[in-house]
Amino acid sequence: MNNYTGSGTSVKLGSIILKNPIVMCSGTFSSGIEYNDFYDVSIVGAITTKSFSLKPRAGNKPPRLCETPAGLLNSIGLQNEGIDFFINEHLPYTKKSGFNIILSILGTDISEFSDLAVKIRNIEESLIAVELNLSCPNVEKGGMSLGSIPEEVENVTTAVRKILNIPVIVKLSPNNNNLSELARRAKNGGAEVISLINTVIGMSIDINTFKPKLGNITGGLSGPAIKPIALAKIFNLHKEKILPIIGMGGIFGWEDAVEFMLAGANAVGLGMVNFVDLHAGENILDGIINYMSNKNILNISDIIGKVKAE
Ligand SMILES: Cc1cc2nc3c(=O)[nH]c(=O)nc-3n(C[C@H](O)[C@H](O)[C@H](O)COP(=O)(O)O)c2cc1C
Repeated sequence: MNNYTGSGTSVKLGSIILKNPIVMCSGTFSSGIEYNDFYDVSIVGAITTKSFSLKPRAGNKPPRLCETPAGLLNSIGLQNEGIDFFINEHLPYTKKSGFNIILSILGTDISEFSDLAVKIRNIEESLIAVELNLSCPNVEKGGMSLGSIPEEVENVTTAVRKILNIPVIVKLSPNNNNLSELARRAKNGGAEVISLINTVIGMSIDINTFKPKLGNITGGLSGPAIKPIALAKIFNLHKEKILPIIGMGGIFGWEDAVEFMLAGANAVGLGMVNFVDLHAGENILDGIINYMSNKNILNISDIIGKVKAE
């Protein structure tokens, strides 16, 4: 790990200032506690928790994971222990350890999001932001079904914004073709940042049994297979200059992270790579710092959106 103490890695997203652009993606890093056995995860810009709902959720029927040649299909269905579990079991540790936590929440409707926000109000000084998961493709209610309707995106964001004082991030799905409109609605509702992309809907079939390989039939594809999709979505949204973007989808190395920033991501999300490289956070941060030094880049934020695409 580089012994880097400068401020050139810091990035600003609305009123959020991260010490570096590395953000752990929701659902792939829990709350960071287990990974802290492998390296000091307080070094990363932020850790987005698994999406928590008001009450525990059992998730979808198994099998819920299926490997594909260049990615992972999952249909977890937002299994989680409920927000109280995060508050009582994870928060004391993340607070003590100085983790920069973005709390991801999921509701099936506005009223669940509002109830979640009321609970979070009591702990908001221990968080850097809250992320609204309006993009999970694996649930019938809430998630993508809510996040595909512009009006709902605005209403949910407004409802949470009214209750909380910390910045609100809205996570959108690449399975929508109206991302600029959705991002604009999120902004109208008071969101400061957009997270993009959640997983891409996919499917896999067992040719011997003729059965889908996932119990839920379809799932969400993550990993290198979706990187070009993510890059194009981020590039196009960045051009509209609506809100800063945390870009994610298939980042496996520091080179990918740099590509995302050139496309217009203000910060980069590491997801599935955490299953493959338990040290991904420090390795990718290290790679970015070396790249900055080799290219004589004093501030990493100077490269955001600088792809020469005219
Ligand atoms: C097993 C698994 C669980 C996930 N759970 C969540 C979740 O709870 N909330 C959420 O917003 N995104 C969730 N995601 C999506 C990731 O946060 C990320 O947006 C997506 O995987 C794309 O990034 P990647 O290709 O780097 O993994 C999950 C992804 C995976 C692979």
